[in-house]
Amino acid sequence: MDDALLKGGKPLCAMLDNGEQTRSGFFRQPDRRQEFIAAHALVRSLLSARTGFPPQRWRFRVKPGRRPEVENHSGLPHFVVSLSHTRNLAIAAIAEGCAVGVDAEWLGRKRPLDGLLNFFCAPIEKQEIAATPGTYRLRTAMSFWTLKEAYGKATGHGLCYLLTSYGFTLTPPALVQAPDGDGEGWLFRTFSPTPDHVAALAVHHGGHRAPSISIGPADLHAMEDLVRPHVTKKDLYTAYHDMAADEVRESEALDWAEVTFSRR
Ligand SMILES: CC(C)(COP(=O)(O)OP(=O)(O)OC[C@H]1O[C@@H](n2cnc3c(N)ncnc32)[C@H](O)[C@@H]1OP(=O)(O)O)[C@@H](O)C(=O)NCCC(=O)NCCS
Repeated sequence: MDDALLKGGKPLCAMLDNGEQTRSGFFRQPDRRQEFIAAHALVRSLLSARTGFPPQRWRFRVKPGRRPEVENHSGLPHFVVSLSHTRNLAIAAIAEGCAVGVDAEWLGRKRPLDGLLNFFCAPIEKQEIAATPGTYRLRTAMSFWTLKEAYGKATGHGLCYLLTSYGFTLTPPALVQAPDGDGEGWLFRTFSPTPDHVAALAVHHGGHRAPSISIGPADLHAMEDLVRPHVTKKDLYTAYHDMAADEVRESEALDWAEVTFSRR
């Protein structure tokens, strides 16, 4: 997400529901608040880009320390979502028909690495870090950390398991020692959204056909295409015509456009 959008929180904030707006107010530092807003707006934007349903109409069941659950809408697929916000970055993932988790970490934190490794790394992970040249050790270690958080978010367990009791490898990313003994049916990716961040994605497809995955920067300016949120078809003119005949959808679209873009 580009910096202007990350910092220019007002239009993004307009997408959030009351609960999210209230929670955003709990952040004392404006930058942390904007990252929270961006991450939640991003989830809504991804869901809306996929379905054409207006971003501000999505509802989530949220409990502290629990995975956010998307409330179902008839006619729309059941989505699973995950998000992460950290220094100058917001990332999010949506999935249909499988569990998903994402996590990102900023590499700028100054912490002694050795103590951290004892806290969260399985022996197999420590070996891989030890074999990594010095300048890349932090990046490697934090990749393991993001894999553990992404996995914890996808299972919904968070970081409840003893972190040193299960382990990943990085080439390719895989769960080689699962906390409950069953590491089957998982797909993992690690990536660097910026030079200063590492991130991981975990998808549980349960042994069914491996899902297609797309990872990339979100162009929220493309949200302007959603000003008329129900137009996602190729034949735009027919779609506009049908949509204009649907008064409820038309007024939702106009309300959303006014709220979202009048403050830009
Ligand atoms: C999930 C968790 C790892 C996220 O860590 P984080 O690095 O602080 O924060 P991130 O920005 O990466 O992710 C935060 C998002 O994760 C999601 N999340 C929180 N708990 C989650 C869970 N159990 N499962 C899936 N997603 C979860 C939320 O959407 C949250 O976003 P929000 O706070 O803006 O609503 C951490 O909050 C956690 O472990 N929580 C559960 C409690 C727990 O495991 N305690 C250990 C003893 S059992």
